[in-house]
Amino acid sequence: MPVHHPRRVLVTGGAGFIGTNLLHYLVPRWTDASFVNLDAVTYAGRPSNLRSLETSGRYRFEQGDIADRERVAALFDEHGFTTVLHLAAESHVDRSILDPLAFVRTNVLGTAVLLDVARGAWQSADGSYGDVRFHHVSTDEVFGSLGDTGMFDETTPYDPRSPYAASKAGSDHLVRAFVNTYRFPAVLSNCSNNYGPYQYPEKLIPLVILNAFHGREVPVYGTGSNVRDWLHVEDHCSAIERIVTTAPTGSTYLVSGGEERSNLELVGLLLDLVDDRLGRPRGTSRRLIRFVLDRPGHDFRYAIDGSRLVADLAWSPTRSLERGLGETVDWYLANLGWLDDPQDESYRAWVRTVYADRPSA
Ligand code: NAD
Ligand code: TYD
Repeated sequence: MPVHHPRRVLVTGGAGFIGTNLLHYLVPRWTDASFVNLDAVTYAGRPSNLRSLETSGRYRFEQGDIADRERVAALFDEHGFTTVLHLAAESHVDRSILDPLAFVRTNVLGTAVLLDVARGAWQSADGSYGDVRFHHVSTDEVFGSLGDTGMFDETTPYDPRSPYAASKAGSDHLVRAFVNTYRFPAVLSNCSNNYGPYQYPEKLIPLVILNAFHGREVPVYGTGSNVRDWLHVEDHCSAIERIVTTAPTGSTYLVSGGEERSNLELVGLLLDLVDDRLGRPRGTSRRLIRFVLDRPGHDFRYAIDGSRLVADLAWSPTRSLERGLGETVDWYLANLGWLDDPQDESYRAWVRTVYADRPSA
C-alpha cells in the first residue's frame, strides 16, 4: 500500500542520464502529478532529451544550480513541491580525480542546500511534516571496494575511496543527519552501475559502443579484471518509484541489477553485439581493445545483495544483462546524432585529454 502520494514533483538533474529516463518513465505513469526538472545543464545535461514531455502540460524545465539557495527556495515557494527526487550530481569518477572540488560543491553543498530548503518549506509550526518526501539517489561506491567475494548490503560500513564516492557519502550522511535530527521525511537508495539510453559517453558502456561504431580504440583500464554489477536504468526507475512511494521514512535500500561482469567480459559482449548489428564478422571490433594505464585507486569490485528491497517492497529487476545490452546497443546505433549539439565539443576535448593521450598499460 503506498505511503506517499506524489503530486508536485521536483526532479533534480533530470537532464542527465538517469533523470531523463526517470522523467520519461514517471510522467506518463503519475498522471495526476506535475513535474519540475531543475538542472544546471553541465556537459552531462541535455534538456532536449525531454522535449516530448512538454506537450503533457505537466512538465517544466528550469535551468539552475541546486547549490543556489535563493533559486531553490523560489522554486519551492512557487510550486509547493510534495516530492523531491534528487539526482543532480557530478557523477563521473575519472572527472572527480581531475577536479574534486566541483564534486564537493554540487554533491555535498548542493544536497545540503536542497535539504535545508525542503525542510523549511515542509515543516509545520508544530514540527511535523505532511505527506511530503525527499528521495536521495546515491551509489554503491560509498561502500568502497570488494575483493573476489562478498557483497554490500544496507549494513555495510561506508568506505568511499574516490573523490566522487566521498562526495556521495557526504551527501548520504547529510540526508541521514536530517532524518535523525529533524525527523525529515527522506528515503535513500544506493544502486549499482546503471546502463541504457541517454548516458553520456564518458561512461564505459556508451563509450565502447560509440568507439566501436567509429572504429576508434576501446580503452580498458588496467587488465580489465575489475568487476561491476550492471542495472538497466529502467529497472532503476521502477525501483525509485517503488521506494519513494512505499518505503518507510528514513529507510535505505540497495538496488542491484544482479548482473556482475568483469570489464573485459562486458566489453567483449558489447563489441560482439556491435559487430552483429553492423554485419561485421564477430571479432572485428575486439581488435580495437587497448589496455591503458589504470585509473588511480581503481575500486576492484562492486556487488550488491539487494534482497532487502525484494523482501520488503517486492521489487526485482526485470531485464537480463543480455537483453538490456542488446537494446542499449540498438538505441545508440539508432541515435548516433544524439550528441550532435554544441556541447559535443566538450566530449571531443574529453576524449583528447583523457583517452587519446592515455599511455598503454
Ligand atoms: P549524469 O552525470 O548523467 O547527470 C547529472 C545531471 O545533474 C546532469 O544533467 C547535470 O547537468 C546535472 N547537474 C550537475 N550539477 C548540477 C548542479 N549543481 N545543479 C543542478 N544540476 C546539476 O548522472 P547520472 O548517471 O544520471 O546520475 C544521476 C544520479 O544517480 C547521481 O546522483 C549519481 O550519483 C547517481 N548514481 C548514478 C549511477 C550510474 O551508474 N550512472 C549509479 C549510482 C548512482
Ligand atoms: P564507469 O562507467 O566510469 O563507472 P564507475 O567508475 O562508476 O564504475 O566505469 C565502469 C568500469 O569500467 C570501471 O571499472 C572503469 C572501467 N572503464 C574502463 O576500463 N575504460 C573506460 O574507458 C571507462 C570509462 C571505464
